[in-house]
Amino acid sequence: MLTIAMPKGRIMNEALSLFQQAGWPVPLQMELDSRKLVVSIPEAGFTLFLAKPMDIPTYVEYGVADLGVAGKDVLMEQARDVYELLDLGISPCRMAVAGKPDWQPDLHPRVATKYPRIAESYFKEQGEQVEIINLHGSVELAPVIGLAERIVDIVSTGQTLRENGLVELGCIAEVTSRLIANKGSYRLKGEAIQELLNQLEQVI
Ligand code: PRP
Repeated sequence: MLTIAMPKGRIMNEALSLFQQAGWPVPLQMELDSRKLVVSIPEAGFTLFLAKPMDIPTYVEYGVADLGVAGKDVLMEQARDVYELLDLGISPCRMAVAGKPDWQPDLHPRVATKYPRIAESYFKEQGEQVEIINLHGSVELAPVIGLAERIVDIVSTGQTLRENGLVELGCIAEVTSRLIANKGSYRLKGEAIQELLNQLEQVI
């Protein structure tokens, strides 16, 4: 039995569609839309754990899930001790710096973000000293109401930036979702994991 941690929401739908194309039976939409957090498909030999995207690497690192689907953004931010097996190519977006178009460098520039480690290492590399302000969502609000001059966040369609009068100032990294594995599971359940990997590789 393989246990797979899935990020609830849009990424999970895209990931499950890939699994389905790879020949794996996936749960009924009704079950995925319910409040159930553990969904089993015993006849196919796997169980899904439906978790928050930011928590997927934690479940996998601790080995309660053998595999997981996690965004490269989350993996970069957390640097968890897991194997990154495959780029699923789904949910493409970029990690970007953004701000108001008339943004001016400040003596004590502040950057708001859900990704403090990524932001810190990016600005360090740029040789720029900034104060990182850690938020948990709706980060685009920060420059609009004056909490920070710039943000580091995910940009997908760019709609959130546009609708809040912000522009992209720089790209830090391209982001897609990855299949990750617990290191012990990869050894103990190598055959089953490899089979899934091969099937997914064929449809990507
Ligand atoms: C993400 C991200 C941006 C938005 C970008 O937020 O943090 O805010 O999507 O998408 P867009 O370029 O297509 O507009 P999410 O929806 O995860 O919500 P959050 O801001 O509360 O984290």
